[in-house]
Amino acid sequence: MNTAILQVEDLYKDFGGLRALSGVSFTLKEGEITALIGPNGAGKTTLFNCITGFTPVTKGKILYRGKNITNWPPHKVVRHGLARTFQVVQILDDMTVEENVMVGAFLHEKTVQGARLLARKALQQSGIDHYTEHLAGSLPIPAKKRLEIAMALVTKPTLLMLDESMAGLTPTEFRDVQELILNLKKEGVTLVVVEHVMEAIMPICDRVLVLNLGVLIAQGTAKEVAENPDVIKAYLGDKYARNR
Ligand SMILES: Nc1ncnc2c1ncn2[C@@H]1O[C@H](COP(=O)(O)OP(=O)(O)O)[C@@H](O)[C@H]1O
Ligand SMILES: [Mg+2]
Repeated sequence: MNTAILQVEDLYKDFGGLRALSGVSFTLKEGEITALIGPNGAGKTTLFNCITGFTPVTKGKILYRGKNITNWPPHKVVRHGLARTFQVVQILDDMTVEENVMVGAFLHEKTVQGARLLARKALQQSGIDHYTEHLAGSLPIPAKKRLEIAMALVTKPTLLMLDESMAGLTPTEFRDVQELILNLKKEGVTLVVVEHVMEAIMPICDRVLVLNLGVLIAQGTAKEVAENPDVIKAYLGDKYARNR
């Protein structure tokens, strides 16, 4: 515990003239839940994309367990134990829920039967095993979000990055996802969670990273960050600070 699992060093990402990430540096500790927060357009999804190889970085370094993984392709990154979900759900609508999850299971399993077993375990973990035989496209949004988590879990990640998995959920629904996240932590998975619902993420995270306009403006415990005037100004507003 408490060893660094991921180090991001002076990361820059430009899209043409737009600087989406600017000198971002932080370290994630093994076994912790980190919340990544900040307004829309702050660069949260871009940061996930850079770490997981979905977009090339402009400058800077990403180290996973001390190994330089900068600009590795996504399939290589995932094989080393980093998995992520997508803010915009990326599932194959015309395949069943189980089949969607089986795709990722073939990373560890050569046989269809073995992949099916792994898929079922991931569906159970994510709490959507009752949808196993349904067409993925027919699921309601909260179940689709869980399906994405199952698709990431089946790759047996040591570091799991969730991009707005609780967006659009009711308080009862996000409490289930909170529980799932805490269970994964218990199993030793390190998590980074992008979330706008502060009530959902602040109580369960160990640390918070705050991005604003591509710059990491604060990091610390939930309490430290919630009291930081820069964070209140850029993102939280007075309302959250007052109601705590
Ligand atoms: N593929 C892309 N091409 C051009 N600009 C992009 C691309 N992806 C993201 N951006 C821009 O980068 C900035 C950060 O976006 P994003 O990472 O999606 O923010 P967040 O996830 O925090 O809402 C935004 O200004 C967005 O318009
Ligand atoms: Mg985003």
